[in-house]
Amino acid sequence: MRDDYRGVTALVTGASKGLGRAYALELARRGARVILLARSEADLRELAAQIDEAHGRQDTEVIVGDLTAQDGPERIVRELHDRGLTVDLLLNNAGMGSAGPFLTRPLQPQLNSVSLNVSGLLALTHAIGAELVARGSGGIINVSSTAAFQPLPYQASYAATKAFVLSFSEALAEELRGTGVHVMAAHPGAIATGFFDGTSATIDSRVADTPEGIAARTLDDYARRRAVSYPGRAVTRAMTWPARLLPRTAVVRLAAALNRRMRLHETVDLV
Ligand SMILES: NC(=O)c1ccc[n+]([C@@H]2O[C@H](COP(=O)([O-])OP(=O)(O)OC[C@H]3O[C@@H](n4cnc5c(N)ncnc54)[C@H](OP(=O)(O)O)[C@@H]3O)[C@@H](O)[C@H]2O)c1
Repeated sequence: MRDDYRGVTALVTGASKGLGRAYALELARRGARVILLARSEADLRELAAQIDEAHGRQDTEVIVGDLTAQDGPERIVRELHDRGLTVDLLLNNAGMGSAGPFLTRPLQPQLNSVSLNVSGLLALTHAIGAELVARGSGGIINVSSTAAFQPLPYQASYAATKAFVLSFSEALAEELRGTGVHVMAAHPGAIATGFFDGTSATIDSRVADTPEGIAARTLDDYARRRAVSYPGRAVTRAMTWPARLLPRTAVVRLAAALNRRMRLHETVDLV
């Protein structure tokens, strides 16, 4: 375990459950102070109390905010300032994605996914990134996915948002090289979370990593100042290679076949 997180204040988006919850717990275990952000206030408060009790601290913060709201990111940044909170590590983890054939799935959840995964991440990065650069220290972890590396039929808009996060993170990391601010994207494969809750799609638990393991390996990679993190099992990283080597038409057909095997072409909402 790399425990270089003492004295660090980390803002974790999407901390109410799943991978974000695991990031918050692991950061606290490594000595960081955490600011928990999501929409579900009760879950955040319960987690904050759990962290404070486990580590004998009383400084875990909760910010209830909706990153897809028009003024959501702006309100969150204002609240950080009003409370006198200075962020050293921005962990852009909140994300959602719709599964199923693009045209037969409702549009609104897909627009929300673009708003959360792309616009919300951009807005927080713009505001907090500028403060980090002004101080000449700290960093940003953007949670992308192995879905970023190729088009994914039946997760078409989700994979496109993650391709955005991959491209944006690599470009920003280079822009900020030499400023003292480190930017790293993390690309997990499948994780055993409630990501597909409310739909007929499921995550195959035999190939999914645990959120705890993904959180720990991401934080190890960030502590080592890695340019990129592949925190999942080895095969998840290997699955990003065909897209770099094969013609894109071949890659997209292969990706479609894999997603059809997971029945994602038949995804419906559960009532
Ligand atoms: N699970 C996987 O297989 C997998 C694989 C690769 C990458 N990822 C990525 O990992 C990240 C975490 O995913 P997960 O599996 O942990 O998903 P999850 O269990 O569904 O958790 C998503 C988190 O995002 C928050 N959130 C959703 N909408 C929000 C909004 N409008 N404003 C603020 N927060 C919002 C949720 O909290 P509230 O509902 O309380 O707001 C929740 O805390 C995502 O970026 C995802 O794309 C997941």
